[in-house]
Amino acid sequence: MDSIVVTGGGPLAGEIPIAGAKNACLALMPATLLSEEPLTLTNTPRLSDIKTMTTLLQSLGAEASALQDGQVIAMSSHDLSSTRADYDIVRKMRASNLVLGPLIARCGHAEVSLPGGCAIGARPMDLHIHGLELLGAEIDLRDGYLHAKAPNGLKGAEIELAFASVGATENIVMAATLAKGTTVLTNAAREPEIVDLVTCLKQMGAQIEGEGTHRIEIQGVDRLHGATHQVVADRIELGTYMLAPAIAGGEVECLGGTIDLLSAFVERLDAAGIAVEETARGLKVARKADRVRAVDVTTEPFPGFPTDLQAQIMAMLCTAEGTSELNETIFENRFMHAPELTRMGAQIEVHGGTARVTGVERLKGAPVMATDLRASVSLILAGLAAEGETVVNRVYHLDRGYEHVVRKLSGVGAQIERVKA
Ligand code: EPZ
Repeated sequence: MDSIVVTGGGPLAGEIPIAGAKNACLALMPATLLSEEPLTLTNTPRLSDIKTMTTLLQSLGAEASALQDGQVIAMSSHDLSSTRADYDIVRKMRASNLVLGPLIARCGHAEVSLPGGCAIGARPMDLHIHGLELLGAEIDLRDGYLHAKAPNGLKGAEIELAFASVGATENIVMAATLAKGTTVLTNAAREPEIVDLVTCLKQMGAQIEGEGTHRIEIQGVDRLHGATHQVVADRIELGTYMLAPAIAGGEVECLGGTIDLLSAFVERLDAAGIAVEETARGLKVARKADRVRAVDVTTEPFPGFPTDLQAQIMAMLCTAEGTSELNETIFENRFMHAPELTRMGAQIEVHGGTARVTGVERLKGAPVMATDLRASVSLILAGLAAEGETVVNRVYHLDRGYEHVVRKLSGVGAQIERVKA
């Protein structure tokens, strides 16, 4: 297993290009199952999760191929040969469960493995199942698989989500595009990736309104046609790299990002003493003083502070002036980066869903272990300004969600390299 070695250094300078959003792409790709015509995505990120989704779609009989060095994905599901998403694929990537809604809508049945838990939580699917059953699907759990069927097709319904689940919103909206009649989904997730998915579905002929609000209304249609869609910028990659100059000092311009994608995150950076300026090409970020100020953070569904940036901002707060309190309200076990940061000299106390971070002058480099995607990149960020060398092991987690990390960070002056195992 490869490692990434970061040597703490001085201020950063330069620009970092932001890729297309992993979490938009992982919902957009299953949308190809809703139509017999080709769906092409551009600005796609080069990530192992995207390769996993490509393999899953191919296992269903769809054509899916990465073009132009992975920045375009051309798909067509004219002839599907299977409606089964196998455990060995789904266990590696929970987002595989996003084929459930499209397969029921298109084929009238599906067998999708339950993803099982992952490092950050149990990750159940009760909200997905509840919504799809209200649309008329009959879903049984047998031998670890969800066996779903809708022999008479799907019918529009009124659905209220108990929690604004991103994945449940995506599965239900995709299924409802081909249901007979009107579906109204309330307490829907409002993330930019949902808006991007709906934008693509409307290009395919779906009749949807209210995306980005708590109430989404879908008029079912008989069929959807093909489309070409550009994937929205990745707000989580954007926020991650905005923290690099916040931690190491200097000034970095993140190309392709816009403030509306993460206004709650930018508000916390501003409170911590980080300057964020919108430019013609993206967002320019610089730390105003020698040390950032401690700030409190509570993760919430969009437009609140994103849980996917909690580990990364914790890395910044480890050297802030004062004590910060981070409340993780979305996942039950998303502080696994804390003990690793403590190995670098951070002062962090975790009690249930709350972590209290008392800033120290400077962290010390150490060998640390990545436990999940966002934890792994928070350790790299911490290493940018730590004294000496930080070796981050198990970087396969990183490859799931960050393309070319070493190239992007060394491009702004970080001392970072990938060491083959
Ligand atoms: C999406 O996961 C993202 N993944 C996650 O990003 C992100 O952290 C999460 O949304 C929250 O924003 C993709 O888009 C591929 P949820 P998802 O359904 O859809 C509970 C990353 O790092 N829940 O909004 O699985 C669930 O257990 C990943 O890129 C139920 O209880 O998230 C969790 O506590 C990590 N029942 C909370 O809701 C359900 O049926 C949020 O889950 C579904 C969810």
